[in-house]
Amino acid sequence: MTMKPIKLARPTTPADDIVVVRTSSTDVAVDAAVDAAVDAAVDVAVDVAVDVAVEERPLRARFVVLDDGPSPPTGVVVYEAKDPGQAVDTAIARGDPAPYGAVLWDSATALARRLFRAELQGRRVLELGCGCGLVGVVCATRGALVLCTDVDVHTLVATRRAATDAAVADRLSTAVFDLCGAAPLPLVDAAPATDVIIADVLYEPMLAAAAARRTLEALAMGARVFIGDPDRAGRQTFLRVLREAGVGGELGPTFDDCVCVLQPIGGG
Ligand SMILES: C[S@@+](CC[C@H](N)C(=O)[O-])C[C@H]1O[C@@H](n2cnc3c(N)ncnc32)[C@H](O)[C@@H]1O
Repeated sequence: MTMKPIKLARPTTPADDIVVVRTSSTDVAVDAAVDAAVDAAVDVAVDVAVDVAVEERPLRARFVVLDDGPSPPTGVVVYEAKDPGQAVDTAIARGDPAPYGAVLWDSATALARRLFRAELQGRRVLELGCGCGLVGVVCATRGALVLCTDVDVHTLVATRRAATDAAVADRLSTAVFDLCGAAPLPLVDAAPATDVIIADVLYEPMLAAAAARRTLEALAMGARVFIGDPDRAGRQTFLRVLREAGVGGELGPTFDDCVCVLQPIGGG
């Protein structure tokens, strides 16, 4: 499908909340990130600049704090483009239809924090437009079997790497899947997903409408759906399609901050 890419604002996380620690290897980088998070008492994230060349997209590891109560804070490492802003600019200039997967966006962090304490043992989680894969990786750490999907294959490489770092590679797999396409939602471990994650894909009305159709498909097959959206341009389109299908009663579904959780049709 062709979409004219629009330029999304960078995540709203203030740059001051991100501490950059320069190290040379991933294991050291993770330890340093945890130390730095404690020292800086940041509640958002710590970037670790590591030169990890995966295919042709250089990556950096980013330690995302999920719970800053304990010391050291609990979190996971995900892989963004080494220079996320430049990666997006380059992808837009190149005309990529999906130029944003190299960046971890705020609503993924919000969903990951929401699901971090969830009981997901035995659940089958499908993530659409997974980008760096943060939410999927967190779900796998909670015991779920996870399939992370995207149209941008680089995101799948980054996601697998994060899953390996989090020691959940045996519970998380990846696949190319176009949420705007005609194929049905993919199975997770040979069965329909019990939970579907869609974070920050409502940024264009066409994509938002497709996300709404996928949401309806998931709800109808008995899955819960978790949407993350920082009030992008397509949110109203998304809500309208769901309302017209009778989801959420007369007023339709609502977002609590940037998260909307939808229960399966029939309550399953
Ligand atoms: C703004 S990013 C959000 C990434 C991640 N979910 C997050 O919140 O950090 C949008 C993601 O949707 C993916 N995407 C865009 N169009 C898509 C499509 N038609 N099917 C599947 N994924 C798509 C992009 O490649 C990108 O990873």
